[in-house]
Amino acid sequence: MATGSGRTLGVGLLGCGVVGSEVARLLTAQHDELAARIGAPLELRGIGVRRPGRARDLDLDPGLFTTDAAALVRRDDVDLVVEVIGGIEPARSLILAALENGASVVTANKALLAEDGATLFEAAEKADRDLWFEAAVAGAIPIIRPLRESLAGDRVRRVLGIVNGTTNFVLDKMSTSGAGFAEALEEAQSLGFAEADPTADIEGFDAAAKAAILASLAFHTRVAVADVHREGIAEVSAADVVSAREMGCVVKLLAICEMHELADGPAVSARVHPAMIPAEHPLASVRGAYNAVFVESEAAGQLMFYGPGAGGAPTASAVLGDLVTAARNRLSDVRGAGESAHAELDVLAMGDTITRYHIAVDVDDRPGVLAAVATEFSRHEVSIQTVRQEGRGSDAQLVVVTHPARDAALAATVDALVHLDMVRAVTSVMRVEAESQPESRS
Ligand code: HSE
Repeated sequence: MATGSGRTLGVGLLGCGVVGSEVARLLTAQHDELAARIGAPLELRGIGVRRPGRARDLDLDPGLFTTDAAALVRRDDVDLVVEVIGGIEPARSLILAALENGASVVTANKALLAEDGATLFEAAEKADRDLWFEAAVAGAIPIIRPLRESLAGDRVRRVLGIVNGTTNFVLDKMSTSGAGFAEALEEAQSLGFAEADPTADIEGFDAAAKAAILASLAFHTRVAVADVHREGIAEVSAADVVSAREMGCVVKLLAICEMHELADGPAVSARVHPAMIPAEHPLASVRGAYNAVFVESEAAGQLMFYGPGAGGAPTASAVLGDLVTAARNRLSDVRGAGESAHAELDVLAMGDTITRYHIAVDVDDRPGVLAAVATEFSRHEVSIQTVRQEGRGSDAQLVVVTHPARDAALAATVDALVHLDMVRAVTSVMRVEAESQPESRS
């Protein structure tokens, strides 16, 4: 078909798993339409895989499959490289080699971007080529491009994300059925919503990598995964979920990226942990394995991006969107936005981040207990927003919700409560999030 430029752009695909095979299928099935949109056809030159003989449900020339990915990315007829292998190596070396060889790169590799994005961005800059990664965060949901381009003239103050479908499914199941964590996880695994080894999802590693990427883009500052405070959902109990409901909240695993205005200047923070959010917050209605990212910015106000955060076809949609852009840029001999890290803001440690806690403690029901508990909050300079007693006698429980305070002070308060004689057990500790709150910390 006539495509305008008379040129063909060669694509090297690295990886042919769930996402890669869908990318290969769409490149073939939508060949003519993509050519019309780009102005030149895309031709798959090779697919780097570990096992070329493996049965794949793809109508492709078997000669395309190669175990020599290093040679594929160095071919002169490969203009665009798509990396969907995941992990740090060999993905990093292959991407760097592709850029060095003059190819533009599209990657879905959140772990690599979050660990060593700076190296990749510097290589793309040096090579004067594109490095696009929409698929690295929240699958099909357009969030990288909105942060990188649409909001480039605004000031993002906070990003709250449900960026892991597995954990959202498990927490949603706990919330709707009353199931405990283990039971909900088992159901997620039996329905294919959780991996056989769910550690990366359950312990928050996957979400932490995504938080690093979102924070870097939102605040024009390099934030690596090592800067992200991470807690998973394995400790969330059915009692926590009930406590949340009693407060009009639901429990979600959130990636929270914030800008802080401190007395000595702005700083940023990035963290992943379970949190209670009000049932009326838009993120509370994100059910099952869906993802959503809620962005608060100075001029635009509140924005929410919602959709499927994983899966072959949704993730391939994001990859192909990037591929079309990178291909168009190659034809016009331009490149899109590179890294924007000019702000170079400090990244706060978790202890210095401002949070609020919900704390439930089983206590003796006698005079002076409330005063003793309140004294621990006061001693740590934590102000209480609400306190209520549930039950009586041996069933007495105090439920305290704090005002915002330094997380280190809140954690120290909990530690002190554990050691009070009249406290039988601290039964639930969870941060409460979602209100936009200007900070008053000096
Ligand atoms: N395993 C992730 C999830 C998707 O459960 O959402 C890939 O990042």
